[in-house]
Amino acid sequence: MINGYNRTAYCGEFNESHIGQEAVVFGWAQKTRDLGNLIFIDLRDRSGILQLAFGDGTDKEVFEKAASVRAEFVLEAKGVIRKRESVNTEISTGAVELFVTELFILAKSQTPPFEVSDNCNAKEDLRLKYRYLDLRRGEMQNILMMRHKIVKSARDYYDENGFMEIETPDLIKSTPEGARDYLVPSRVHPGCFYALPQSPQLYKQLLMMSGCDRYMQIARCFRDEDLRADRQPEFTQIDMEMSFVDENDVMTINEGLVKRVFKDVLNYDVPTPFERLTYNEAMARFGSDKPDTRFGLELCDLSDLLKNCEFKVFAGALEKGSVRAINAKGAASVFTRKEIDKLVEVVKLYKAKGLAWTRLTPDGETSSYEKFLTEEEKTAIRERLGAETGDVLFIVADSRNDIVFDALGALRLELGKRLDLIPKGTYNFLWVTDFPLFEWSDEENRWMAKHHPFTCPRFGDEDKLMTDPGDCYARAYDMVLNGCELGGGSIRISDTEVQDKMLQALGLSEEVAQARFGFLLDAEKYGVPPHGGMAFGLDRMVMLMLDRPSIRDVIAFPKVQTASELMTQCPTEVDQKNLDELHIVIVKKEEE
Ligand code: AMO
Ligand code: AMP
Repeated sequence: MINGYNRTAYCGEFNESHIGQEAVVFGWAQKTRDLGNLIFIDLRDRSGILQLAFGDGTDKEVFEKAASVRAEFVLEAKGVIRKRESVNTEISTGAVELFVTELFILAKSQTPPFEVSDNCNAKEDLRLKYRYLDLRRGEMQNILMMRHKIVKSARDYYDENGFMEIETPDLIKSTPEGARDYLVPSRVHPGCFYALPQSPQLYKQLLMMSGCDRYMQIARCFRDEDLRADRQPEFTQIDMEMSFVDENDVMTINEGLVKRVFKDVLNYDVPTPFERLTYNEAMARFGSDKPDTRFGLELCDLSDLLKNCEFKVFAGALEKGSVRAINAKGAASVFTRKEIDKLVEVVKLYKAKGLAWTRLTPDGETSSYEKFLTEEEKTAIRERLGAETGDVLFIVADSRNDIVFDALGALRLELGKRLDLIPKGTYNFLWVTDFPLFEWSDEENRWMAKHHPFTCPRFGDEDKLMTDPGDCYARAYDMVLNGCELGGGSIRISDTEVQDKMLQALGLSEEVAQARFGFLLDAEKYGVPPHGGMAFGLDRMVMLMLDRPSIRDVIAFPKVQTASELMTQCPTEVDQKNLDELHIVIVKKEEE
């Protein structure tokens, strides 16, 4: 109760059914219009905007107070809801207004650094510096509310399916493997550090060994990685794990989660089960392990057609790599020579050495490889790609298949955008399964776990762990939505022998493995249930559900590209006293 009154309802909740009723509202003045004998104030709270009206019949003192109100003043207003003269169809309360009889100015405000409204066109940096003002805007309040609803819906769903939420620690042992850790120095143990969790992975597996059977958590994760539009140094996972299950069980329960959340929050019916693609199929067809399947333009392998060709660029690629292509159907009018040159730059970003192309126009075929291929080879390429007049064919050759896939995968997305092939308002879910268990790291000169070292190899691949790691596949699955990795997980190793082989294949000696994950390896000796799980990126889920371009939009207080937070300016230096307690000496690099 403020000044003797309680709020009747939020500003955004009034409509014609309230006409004639007394009401008390609280909020911020978004806009004031002083017409001399009439004053209007748009009062905003988290639900929306209600127009306050002052004029004929308003007490003189109240009128004068209203005239002194400026943007972002905090107000309490009491009055009667009445029909508005000129209806505003843009807002839900646009047919009514509050004719004010009592007004209290609860707080004044300086002129804000930008207009706090949904039409604000302030730069993102300024909005982030004054995030508390930015969050007052209806658009941002809506995002926070939707995010809350998504989390609540997820918690309810797992709860109804027998999962319990268990908190795992945030100060944990550093176990390098995966992204870089954020470290926290210990005061009590000089020279020792905790790490902040990259995910609750090891703890949730231990909870399965503890007999918890079904676990979930809305978990904060920390990764010191280079940031992109869909990555933050700290982010939130909807994390889950379950015992006595195989991958189909985990996938089914999590399809249910998505179905439930989309229904609860967007009233959108997600069809289940989702389509499944193996990793190899996803790469061959879309050049990506998170394909956007909302449009076609699939890749096509030309390698077998070009085995004996004289063109070095193609022939040279074939021994180890491949030659693959995309047919941009009917795009000859869009992709002139000049436009094609821009696409060459796209594939070069992905390390392709070049982009060969052919334009099929009513005047004939013009092509970058005209002189280098025989008529038979050119015909075979056209036939393989189902090429017709009006099409443009794009070809990438490389002795490394990953470069061919990356370059054509990126080109495919660019073509999809340029040709306007991506439908709006649809959600295309799919699973990508059977990932390679390892990937080779040139940097480390060894095989690395593609997921993590506790991911179970596919049935039958256990024996190849030592002899042919490159041909081992994982019982791992990613959930992909509209070309974005929404979540991922796997069935975990529950057999100590397989675990030993896995660690050996990763080049970890028993000693190193024991030092890093000894606690988990020990636990595995005391009865491990078969188990598996997955984690969704909550921020990405909210971003995709609300169709926002950046993950920063859906986080209350996000960090920017340099991993700093613009409002508090962290990270910052700390007092010498703090450093001394933590046994830390800062070595300043000499200025260049
Ligand atoms: P993974 O590393 O694939 O798996 O992460 C799961 C999901 O988390 C989201 N995500 C991120 N979101 C925002 N910013 C980031 N920096 C970021 N990194 C990841 C993605 C991703 O799909 N413990 C395993 C899961 C498991 O095996 O159960 C894990 O963390 O949406
Ligand atoms: P060059 O002989 O290098 O001038 O290349 C002739 C044509 O082949 C040009 O159109 C190049 O863009 C194209 N090209 C070069 N390297 C590749 C490659 N790795 N894949 C596909 N096309 C290429």
